[in-house]
Amino acid sequence: MASFPRLLIWSAGKPSSRGFKTRETLGEFMAEPRKIIIDTDPGQDDAMAILLALGSPEELDLLGITAVAGNVPLALTEKNARKICELAGRPDVEVFAGASRPLARRLVTAENVHGKTGLNGPDLPEPTMPLQERYAVDFIVETLMCEESGTVTLCPLGPLTNIALALNREPRIAARIREIVLMGGGFFEGGNVTPAAEFNIYVDPHACDVVLRSGVPVVIMPLDVTHKALTTPARIAAFRDLGNRAGVAAAEMLEFFERYDVNKYGGEGGPLHDPCVIAYLLRPELFRGRECNVEVETGSALTMGMTVVDWWGVTDRPKNALVMRDIDAEGYFALLAERLARLP
Ligand code: BDR
Ligand code: CA
Repeated sequence: MASFPRLLIWSAGKPSSRGFKTRETLGEFMAEPRKIIIDTDPGQDDAMAILLALGSPEELDLLGITAVAGNVPLALTEKNARKICELAGRPDVEVFAGASRPLARRLVTAENVHGKTGLNGPDLPEPTMPLQERYAVDFIVETLMCEESGTVTLCPLGPLTNIALALNREPRIAARIREIVLMGGGFFEGGNVTPAAEFNIYVDPHACDVVLRSGVPVVIMPLDVTHKALTTPARIAAFRDLGNRAGVAAAEMLEFFERYDVNKYGGEGGPLHDPCVIAYLLRPELFRGRECNVEVETGSALTMGMTVVDWWGVTDRPKNALVMRDIDAEGYFALLAERLARLP
């Protein structure tokens, strides 16, 4: 399928004051690589997102990786992040450990999906690059206060705990963040960990609430998008056939990762969630969505963590997020293969 025309947004009422032309224009003509911080809980799909970013140094300047507890506990997510940097030949990337538990709830993990280590599949060596001593939340705050305002994009790929802690600790960062592009939530597809909730948001709905109320421009990649981006056998084979270390490891990770969702949903492969965030920064035209109000359920036990999206504009609640709903999956996997090929 060809990529979508230059129409990024489905028209829904008045054009947004946030100016999507500007976003596209910036994406197209920006000479300087875009500064990003990846906040993550690897996770095979998180790993693929990190590899996509590290394979794109001309467009993305990865200032650091902040780990959070999510798919597996923090001690494993920070170690897995370092393993992936070394796999990509980038032991120089700074990795920081952040929150070991959500703001208000006990930690829920997903070893049933990702395996005991969170990165089951390939046999990756123990990392030798150091974990940074600084607390991830301090790194986020200090980076945003030091870098030029409006230049740093946050890319959360797991529960939003670190981001919420940073916003709570130093509210002035909200006005300095260029954009938060996150994977989380689901509306038309429902949830994947409960009937109503997607995993990242379910684990820390209170943190999601902080982010959605922060006033920062937010782009959401929900299950409605990622369930259209399936790791088919042909797509996994394309990664393996690259023949490099990263391509082979990617294939091994995804073969392990997809088995859970194939059992659950049927179909040709599992949804490859987290790299959608990085792909959006590189090729926004692969995605289509709409500016909406999004709020998150933090009270009801039945629907805890549900992202309630006013897609049809039936309330007058303010639009606080660009919610994606569609993806050019062929273009997405082609981009992944192209960038994986640039790695060792
Ligand atoms: C999200 O949950 C995690 O298991 C994945 O890494 C992804 O971030 C999908 O619901
Ligand atoms: Ca994740």
